[in-house]
Amino acid sequence: MTNTIKVVELESSQLSALQLISTQTFSETFTEYNTEENMKLYIESNFNLNSLKKELDNSSSKFYFALDGKEVVGYLKINWGNAQSESPGNTSLEVERIYVLKSYHGKKVGMVLFQKAIEVAKDLNFDFIWLGVWEKNERAIQFYKKNGLVEFDKHLFKLGKDVQTDLLMKFMLK
Ligand SMILES: CC(C)(COP(=O)(O)OP(=O)(O)OC[C@H]1O[C@@H](n2cnc3c(N)ncnc32)[C@H](O)[C@@H]1OP(=O)(O)O)[C@@H](O)C(=O)NCCC(=O)NCCS
Repeated sequence: MTNTIKVVELESSQLSALQLISTQTFSETFTEYNTEENMKLYIESNFNLNSLKKELDNSSSKFYFALDGKEVVGYLKINWGNAQSESPGNTSLEVERIYVLKSYHGKKVGMVLFQKAIEVAKDLNFDFIWLGVWEKNERAIQFYKKNGLVEFDKHLFKLGKDVQTDLLMKFMLK
């Protein structure tokens, strides 16, 4: 599977494809754990076209699609500098979102996306990669551990009106 998956950086014209994959993967991942109201609130405030456009235009963030042929099967959002959602510093890169369509889980698409994050972080000479993951998202935590990340802290995360705990994990590059 990995050699048929291409990872490409997004262009601004791909905004609606980004909205589609963001909404679909977020719904597939979290619908069963949250109320319909909180899911709707989160999706509307985070994946509306204005917010996504601002994120795409930020020069300290990058988005990548994982493509199987022409189909978008996953995506990655990375941030550095002030675009990071917390602890901004000049030595780290944040993996803010890494999402793969449910029908593609377990086929190493996530691994290929994470390798892209490592490649960019090395190119930009960062010391480490970090991310936040919901403490009950065991599949993602397993995936991160497999990819060499280790837990170093916790922070609170708001999903609609619900406050949840994220584990912070990091991957040292130096
Ligand atoms: C987490 C995620 C990005 C991993 O991507 P992926 O392409 O499925 O993962 P890979 O195939 O590269 O790696 C597989 C590893 O991840 C874990 N994993 C992936 N899918 C799994 C599944 N359906 N059930 C259990 N473990 C799974 C396992 O540890 C697995 O290792 P193994 O193949 O040796 O058993 C993907 O499952 C996903 O998009 N999940 C939903 C979104 C999400 O939770 N994102 C992270 C938010 S912080």
